[in-house]
Amino acid sequence: PCPHTALGTWHGDPLGKLSPDPTQPWGAGAMMCRATPWCHGPALTPTSAGTTWMQEILTLLFSLGDARPAKTIPNWERAPWLEQIYSREALQNTGSPRLLTTHLPARVPRALGVPVIYVARNPKDVAVSFYHFHHLAKFLPDPSSFDAFLTQFLEGTVHYGSWFDHVKGWLGQRHLLDILYVTYEELHQRLSSFLGCPLAPGTLAALEQHCSFSAMRDNAMANYSLIPAEIMDHSQGRFMRKGVVGDWRSHFSPEQNALFNRRYQEEMGDTELPSQWPM
Ligand code: A3P
Repeated sequence: PCPHTALGTWHGDPLGKLSPDPTQPWGAGAMMCRATPWCHGPALTPTSAGTTWMQEILTLLFSLGDARPAKTIPNWERAPWLEQIYSREALQNTGSPRLLTTHLPARVPRALGVPVIYVARNPKDVAVSFYHFHHLAKFLPDPSSFDAFLTQFLEGTVHYGSWFDHVKGWLGQRHLLDILYVTYEELHQRLSSFLGCPLAPGTLAALEQHCSFSAMRDNAMANYSLIPAEIMDHSQGRFMRKGVVGDWRSHFSPEQNALFNRRYQEEMGDTELPSQWPM
């Protein structure tokens, strides 16, 4: 049913290209595929919102639950970043069917005419996760404090720009694109059913196991531990940090929460969201 066996043709430049262009706005972890209908859905994720998780899920769906590609090929090679692909020719070299990842704004995949899966996450948890990621990523400025970082996050002056603009941008395209919206929180509830991929129950169970937080945390092909220390300072923590819903509650003060809620209402008040996060 899902003849995605072209893993050997996937390309990517494993190291040294993980620093996104700081001039780009927030993007989405976008996984795109042109093969069978069930995976024609799009996948977009603002940074720190489930990109890596979706890469893993789609890898397993592509391989019909065969974990070998996910255990032997780094995720940046299985699902290359669109930001790192500089020409149409290079894009074609990624093979077909292809799985790509991006944090680029909505208009890019539209221009490419590809289906997209958009993964969104409660922005409070995004802010916390992204804050911790700044400690790891040597290519991002050291955040002086969570409070200072949160202010930047709300102002949209962090890497990739405004979370609000990014999400609204993609939501605004929903009637024009072949796009599937998924939330990080939904992935926690129902990992495998959201794409409706016709996999056998045993295969689905294997997929769920492989894509669990603990399995991915221990998979060097997914957890970014292969990235050299000049790019990621692994002594500061793990990329696969906690992987839970609602960790913001252990970081936000009541004042920060009130500030965030005000800003969220200003930005997103009239926006029809695919799901309402616990704010
Ligand atoms: P935390 O920092 O809250 O732990 P992205 O890949 O878009 O940068 O998102 C990173 C976040 O996704 C991190 O969140 C990471 O732990 C979480 N994540 C990655 N794989 C996961 C999984 N299998 N289950 C739950 N969370 C996962």
